[in-house]
Amino acid sequence: MSARRRCVLAYSGGLDTSVAVHWLQEELGFEVVTMTADLGGEGRDAAAVTDRALRAGAVAAHVVDARRVFVEHFVYPTLSAGALYEGVYPLATALARPLIAKLLVDVAREEGAVAVAHGCTGKGNDQVRFDVATGALAPELEVVAPVRDWDMGRPQEIAYAAARGIDVEATVESPYSVDANLWGRSVEAGVLEDPWNQPPEEVFAWTADPAAAPADGEEFTIVFESGVPVSLDGERLVPEELVLRLNTVAGRNGVGRIDHVENRLVGIKSREVYEAPAAVALHTAHAALETVALSRDVAHLKRQLSAEWARLVYDGLWFGALRNALAAFVASTQEHVSGEVRVRCARGVVTVSGRRAQRSLYSSSLATYDRDGDTFDHGAARGFIELFGLPLRNQARVQGALEDLAPLSLPRQVKRAH
Ligand code: ARG
Repeated sequence: MSARRRCVLAYSGGLDTSVAVHWLQEELGFEVVTMTADLGGEGRDAAAVTDRALRAGAVAAHVVDARRVFVEHFVYPTLSAGALYEGVYPLATALARPLIAKLLVDVAREEGAVAVAHGCTGKGNDQVRFDVATGALAPELEVVAPVRDWDMGRPQEIAYAAARGIDVEATVESPYSVDANLWGRSVEAGVLEDPWNQPPEEVFAWTADPAAAPADGEEFTIVFESGVPVSLDGERLVPEELVLRLNTVAGRNGVGRIDHVENRLVGIKSREVYEAPAAVALHTAHAALETVALSRDVAHLKRQLSAEWARLVYDGLWFGALRNALAAFVASTQEHVSGEVRVRCARGVVTVSGRRAQRSLYSSSLATYDRDGDTFDHGAARGFIELFGLPLRNQARVQGALEDLAPLSLPRQVKRAH
């Protein structure tokens, strides 16, 4: 091994991380190894990425196909948990970070590196997620964030690259900052920075304009086994394929656009536009199946814990003890979340038109309003209410009615028999 200390950089192939390869060598004296995770986003192809990394000065370039683990170990548990940050964001970007951190740590150990690096700026959530996840997995590794540390804007970076012969892609600069993986696409900046501005159509890449989507829409059936989707319209699919197909079907029907002003961990409110067709369709379907598979008390507590799961993922605490503890709770709730859901996607809206579970708690003979076949004990209801309402009757007798309303004087018509 060489005498220079090694650093493994999370590398996208874009301007920031290409300049970072050079900067880590020049400014900090590192020998740089790059690691690019394929999570099914809009990335460049593997050969192009490794070439670019080596040309930028890396001594080795790894490209890892991590789509399967991503969906199986990060996305699906979060779907089962029903976790949406602030009730809407399916967490695509946030879920990718702990996995990328894990891959950086793996490569660092394999390559004998003493540090890892990422291209996050100092204003976002992602820097927190990378730094915290790396620390949780390998506290001995140093974490470097060149873009957070250097004092360069885009023009300076381009000049830096030109002066050192680093080739920069000749594509026109997008006014947006985009991050994408199988679970969704996150877009910010540009005209979106004014929360009053309607997102221009050019922002969207995975979803049709709901107003222009086919009026009839499309209907399909999703089968879940213990809270995890396993097949689409009767066809069993591996996780990454199922998500990919749903992105296409739901996306072409305009489903999955989320326009949200969110609360970042670093204290900033930011306007984000997300596209997550599969995530929106799957969360809707999964929640529908839980309505028949979970008891009321479990369902109600689970809602509160879903919010906790979402917050901890958002805050970069994936590798913390709370996630482990919540995962045990969620897993236990999912035991009977097996069955199928019929879903319709049309003009931007997902509707559930049917749900059934193998061990459904829904009982027709208890629920029916028909006298025939009704097994519900109406007499028992009388006794139940007698005791259920006892404390309030007692309170009224002893302490008086809480709301001692005067008779409401409302317009009325009265007719009496002569
Ligand atoms: N706000 C989202 C999150 O914190 C997405 C952040 C990355 N987005 C981007 N366009 N680079 O998870």
